[in-house]
Amino acid sequence: VTFNEPHRPQFHFTPPSGWMNDPNGMVYHNGEYHLFYQHNPDSTVWGPMHWGHAVSKDMVSWEHLPIALYPDSLGTIFSGSAVVDVKNTSGLGTANNPAMVAIYTYHDAEGEKAGRDDFQTQGIAFSLDNGRSWKKYEANPVLKNPGIRDFRDPKVMWYEAGQKWIMTLAVKDHISFYSSPNLLDWKLESDFGANVGAHGGVWECPDLFKLKVAGTEEEKWVLIVNINPGAPNGGSGTQYFLGSFDGNKFVMDPQFEASLNTKPAIATTVNGQEGIWLDYGRDEYAGVTWENVPEQDGRRLFMGWMSNWAYANVVPTEKWRSAMTVARTLELVNTPAGLRVASMPVKELQHIYGATHDLEGQDVTGALAISEGAPFSTPTFDLQLELERLSTGGQFAVELSNAKGQKVLVGYDAARGQYYIDRRNAGSNSFSDDFAGIHYAPRLASDASFPVRLLVDVASVEFFADGGKTVMTDIFFPDEPFTNVRLITEKGQYRLKSGKLTELKSIYN
Ligand code: FRU
Repeated sequence: VTFNEPHRPQFHFTPPSGWMNDPNGMVYHNGEYHLFYQHNPDSTVWGPMHWGHAVSKDMVSWEHLPIALYPDSLGTIFSGSAVVDVKNTSGLGTANNPAMVAIYTYHDAEGEKAGRDDFQTQGIAFSLDNGRSWKKYEANPVLKNPGIRDFRDPKVMWYEAGQKWIMTLAVKDHISFYSSPNLLDWKLESDFGANVGAHGGVWECPDLFKLKVAGTEEEKWVLIVNINPGAPNGGSGTQYFLGSFDGNKFVMDPQFEASLNTKPAIATTVNGQEGIWLDYGRDEYAGVTWENVPEQDGRRLFMGWMSNWAYANVVPTEKWRSAMTVARTLELVNTPAGLRVASMPVKELQHIYGATHDLEGQDVTGALAISEGAPFSTPTFDLQLELERLSTGGQFAVELSNAKGQKVLVGYDAARGQYYIDRRNAGSNSFSDDFAGIHYAPRLASDASFPVRLLVDVASVEFFADGGKTVMTDIFFPDEPFTNVRLITEKGQYRLKSGKLTELKSIYN
């Protein structure tokens, strides 16, 4: 594999070949960030699921490892998580060499075909050598199915205050919390969510973790719930809830709950869809966070699958399908809509920084060339702009384009008060009727200052506005890479207070 085929991302994780969907089992251990992923090694479309595996020292460059988990007599291996059993509660390792334990869903396709409802169960596997070799637990499944068709994607964490493991499980239209002293025996604690949040599809791939309110010592619990379909711009997406968790129940914050129920409200309605979303673009799904990140580090690290079930199986790549988003740091921040989760790219991205080109501060009316006549031409870059709106009604867009007239616009629509990504004319899109389009996201700030950041790869843009309060991820497939960059303003003027474009090197060089 050369990793330079058409549309192959140059700084986003992709499988060498075959199909990939959700990130799984993200865990930090002995200096390595592990990334497992839903993988069909035998085809570029979804099929019998395995856990592919890679490790990284910085979440930017990855070493591909052999497949970690293969299907067995209990089923194929659907999504799940991994922990390090530091106290050896399971007895699967030793105090000196704790086991890395993967907790995943068995999907019994035969059972499903036979018309049964209990074909998804939870199993575990463990590794005593830093994830290099795996053994399935002999008494799987550890959590049987109570007769519900959608019963999957266990995310497990150590609940320190209660000295027990908590499993957050997606169960059709709600979340079930289970607890265990040893990762082997599980008991139901409570259910959450059947009547709140977005319900346009099945709840999948949840996550539960504590997060500090930025700049304070106050902590809240974040409950991530991925859902397919039902995302604000169509297809699959990542919503979340804020509240408290006491080892038994998740209770929403009154303020957060109120903002979910206020219509129309700044953060709750995009295209008429309910919910509050971690990423409003079309191409971040199944995102969850890393377990076991050292406390001194203090970060909550997130990664999602950079595609959408609406068309994931038919995007125009040949040897592999799909990429992951960049790793992101999550923070709780205050916004005019209340507390929200903001995400920004991890600082380790600077490991692939190439030359930086500063843009001159100036007032912009019409278009400002960024790449034209500049001493660079690259389809992979990190663009950071500090814009100030000089007249109400003014809007702006960053335009990425190629010589074939194909383009993507990433900007602010003043009439809607929303950010957007427009990929209507971004190149190849005939593979699906549901691909071309404009996607919107609420703006969670109300001042005249617009700090925006774009991470652009060969086949994607990740847009972080207002310090990550609004995030959008979209993929695209132009016939030639987008190396032309312009800033366009309309219906008013903006001042470019400062700006810089940093070239990003390929992780394969
Ligand atoms: C989400 C999902 C999960 C499931 C996996 C199967 O994308 O549908 O719910 O475990 O993918 O590959």
